[in-house]
Amino acid sequence: MEAVVIFESLTGNTAKAGYAIAAGLSERGLPTSAFPMTQIDYQALSNADVVILGSWVDGLLLVGQRPGRLGRIRALPALAGKRTIVFLTYAIDPGRALTKMSDAATALGAEVLGGQLIRRDKLASGVADFVDRVLQVTVDA
Ligand SMILES: Cc1cc2nc3c(=O)[nH]c(=O)nc-3n(C[C@H](O)[C@H](O)[C@H](O)COP(=O)(O)O)c2cc1C
Repeated sequence: MEAVVIFESLTGNTAKAGYAIAAGLSERGLPTSAFPMTQIDYQALSNADVVILGSWVDGLLLVGQRPGRLGRIRALPALAGKRTIVFLTYAIDPGRALTKMSDAATALGAEVLGGQLIRRDKLASGVADFVDRVLQVTVDA
């Protein structure tokens, strides 16, 4: 089994989380590579049994939150049948952005197994929780 992390990042937090998630999963026995959304290795994506999609929360801090660059996420290649887990990094209030992220993945044909918010000032603990969660849902599934 192999996984890929595909992330969108404006100021670096989600990139940092994405690479840390890939390293954490690889260390725990699930070989995982990570790519920015604009530089996807399509062969790796095609081979992946598990896809992790990450972005950041974009909004007016308390209203109108959505995944950053949602248009780019919606234009990703089809994820038909791929077991997928989503995550978003955020600052204060993510609103309903995580649901919108899951909906975008579902629209690409992904089988969404879960999603998690990672607060940008608690990146390390959020990443550790996320890695545990990915292993739980993919091993049990
Ligand atoms: C234009 C912009 C809008 C943002 N809006 C929100 C928001 O509505 N709610 C929130 O909790 N964080 C918001 N943030 C904070 C980011 O979601 C947070 O810093 C995130 O970790 C950024 O990820 P990145 O470094 O990968 O770009 C916003 C950041 C930017 C740049």
